[in-house]
Amino acid sequence: MTLQDSPFLRACRRLPVDHTPVWFMRQAGRSLPEYRRVRADVPMLEACARPDMIVEITMQPVRRYGVDAAIYFSDIVVPLKAIGLDLDIKPGVGPVVDDPIRDAEGVKRLRDLEPGDVSYVTEAVGELVGELGDRPLIGFAGGPFTLASYLIEGGPSKNHEHTKALMYGAPDLWADLMRRLSAITLEFLKVQISAGASAVQLFDSWVGALSAEDYRESVLPHTSWIFEELSRYDVPRIHFGVGTGELLSLLSEAGADVVGVDWRVPLDKAAQRVQPATALQGNLDPATLFAPWEAVAERTRDVLTRARAAEGHVFNLGHGVLPATDPDVLTRLTEFVHQETARS
Ligand code: CP3
Repeated sequence: MTLQDSPFLRACRRLPVDHTPVWFMRQAGRSLPEYRRVRADVPMLEACARPDMIVEITMQPVRRYGVDAAIYFSDIVVPLKAIGLDLDIKPGVGPVVDDPIRDAEGVKRLRDLEPGDVSYVTEAVGELVGELGDRPLIGFAGGPFTLASYLIEGGPSKNHEHTKALMYGAPDLWADLMRRLSAITLEFLKVQISAGASAVQLFDSWVGALSAEDYRESVLPHTSWIFEELSRYDVPRIHFGVGTGELLSLLSEAGADVVGVDWRVPLDKAAQRVQPATALQGNLDPATLFAPWEAVAERTRDVLTRARAAEGHVFNLGHGVLPATDPDVLTRLTEFVHQETARS
């Protein structure tokens, strides 16, 4: 098999596969004891800047689960840190920003990302591609709304009230912020693609907080620009957000090859909401993995059955692996999906 013939890349391109490919959002991380061991004395953002740690942590779930793709170990705020913003990732909390961005002065602090700011990404991706062989590496970045929310709120937010206040109250400043964040995200993805990543996922995780009209007006033009720019490269583009039932058609309109669906929308319904010639990724509820195996198997079969309505399917959870998940269940789930979908 060659990399381009891998089930993951073929499914993204809506080509026939000999089994449905599997990977898990947040497959690298706290649910793995080997991850906790290597991270024990190393703060998250330091780990994200060290090629040796990046390579080891990216490979851990590949070795353990036998997933069909690796996802580059990093975080959505890494490029923001790399341009000099004062932010950190607090364990159990997420990204926190000391001096949130809420005015024109703040927005001006967002300069362009230069490839040299993230040379460790180039180095780590290069090593990973060598180690992974015919298994694809997924590069990723945060979507502009989700990044803006962390920067404006100063940390995780339930209601995104400061973010929406800026979006509704200062549309020109908002557009400037979106343009700068989109340029940073695009550059971060380009660095990963140039170094050998063979697909990319844009995580605009929190866009589900927006109405379809607000999304169309205030986010879609920027995301469309990112996907348009990425179309010059021969890499499948995946677009994902949480709670996006009402937004799926717009998420798809933004131009992705694959739309990631959370667990709230069955894949057969999702297939009707996306553009023609779009593959789907998802969407087992990550909480299912805490139920007895019979329930996991039954719900997984349901996802696989509904996925037949899609033009191409990449099996995943509907959001990231929860930290307390038993890794053995993920190993079993990977094997189960491979067996259930095996075509000779
Ligand atoms: O998927 C993977 O395995 C690749 C690694 C990855 C991380 N973050 C590592 C991480 C990816 C793809 C991300 C993306 C990310 N980061 C998103 C989008 C995906 C999603 O979940 O919607 C978001 C919103 C963030 C912001 C962020 N960073 C959060 C919410 C957290 C968790 C806070 C917590 O500790 O509960 C982080 C920290 C983070 N990113 C960890 C990891 C492994 C945990 C850090 C630790 O081990 O202390």
